[in-house]
Amino acid sequence: MVNVSVLGYGVVGSGVVDILKKNGKSIKTRAGEDIKVKRILDIRDFPESEYKELFTKNADDVFNDESIKIVVETIGGIGIAYEYTKRALKSGRHVVTSNKELVATHGPELLKIAQENNVRYLFEASVGGGIPIIRPLRQCLAANMITGITGILNGTTNYILTRMKKDGMDFDEALKGAQKNGYAEADPTADIEGHDACRKIAILSSIAYNEFVNYKNIPTEGIKNISLTDMKYADALNCTIKLIGHSRKTKDGIYAWVSPAMVGKDMPLAGVNDVFNAIVVYGDAIGEAMFYGPGAGKFPTASAVVADIIDIVSHPEDGFKNNWQDHNGNTLELTDPSGIAAKYFVRVKSTDQKEAKRAVLAEFGEDVKYLRLPDSETEDEFGFVCGKMPERQFALSVERLKKSGKVDEVVNKIRVLEG
Ligand code: HSE
Repeated sequence: MVNVSVLGYGVVGSGVVDILKKNGKSIKTRAGEDIKVKRILDIRDFPESEYKELFTKNADDVFNDESIKIVVETIGGIGIAYEYTKRALKSGRHVVTSNKELVATHGPELLKIAQENNVRYLFEASVGGGIPIIRPLRQCLAANMITGITGILNGTTNYILTRMKKDGMDFDEALKGAQKNGYAEADPTADIEGHDACRKIAILSSIAYNEFVNYKNIPTEGIKNISLTDMKYADALNCTIKLIGHSRKTKDGIYAWVSPAMVGKDMPLAGVNDVFNAIVVYGDAIGEAMFYGPGAGKFPTASAVVADIIDIVSHPEDGFKNNWQDHNGNTLELTDPSGIAAKYFVRVKSTDQKEAKRAVLAEFGEDVKYLRLPDSETEDEFGFVCGKMPERQFALSVERLKKSGKVDEVVNKIRVLEG
């Protein structure tokens, strides 16, 4: 029998307790031992819970219990979760988590502490919810030089974008749906502004490129500025708008970004809807492989947490080789992605469209492709896609266009994703 303690009885933590109970028999067959939840730590009361006798508000009830060998941290954030994780690892307990913020912020330190104490720190659930991606990346694809990762890494924003596009729902209503389904973070700003996806692309990149990629160095833009009209333009371009996390390893270094992007409908990522996530991994031997599944939610995320618990019970010695070196305390310098060439979609409002188009042509060159929507509400505007240009040059051109006096407003600009 292996005793586990769950810290944080929220969406994911409660799912872990339920799965361990519901699938106890087959889990025992796979793990080789019974896995029992001995304690649940939470500051809230759950008087109606069938597990009510397991609850405690006192962390000492967990840490002073020598029979508890595995700690599940599903508190989230980098406050008390960080302290408890260190305490658990230092006391010789394995830790399993879904906490991407903690892994992305303190991963190298926590992995080091785990190694020093001969225990494991596993975080399959930190990226892609129920999708197997951390383990495949570090084990099944270990033979490859990984050259890139592109993915839809946040369930909440993908759900919001899908509801807007398919049901014409407004942003706030779609967000409420994501919250009701247990997809969103306690503070959904992290989802909407892209910070959650940013931490996830940082974690995946760190594993893929054997270097700790600090999420704080990744340019990140969320979906707050995406409107239903932008989605109509996307449709006209045979694209769908998705929040994309992207990283590449080139001869000049590693770069990464998170931003909304126009994704061609012929690309697999365009068909990833609702709470689903998908991650395309590029490797020199495999070519490309896509991992797809539910990216958030109680049971999908708990599924990944419980799989890590089973892995520890069946392979307690199998440490995660800590290759997230932080260059003697200095964070790895990422290449500035603003030098990377891409195409961009731009929306321009103007009373004199001929004049405005002349200005666009002067600034963005002959490769510009214009488009207009048929509806009256966009009569005073047009959209265009420019030819490939480095992001910083694009940004300068947009600024000059704004100042030219030839356009009334640049309404929005969205990157076009290339394969
Ligand atoms: N808020 C996250 C998401 C939860 O929506 O993807 C899963 O990490």
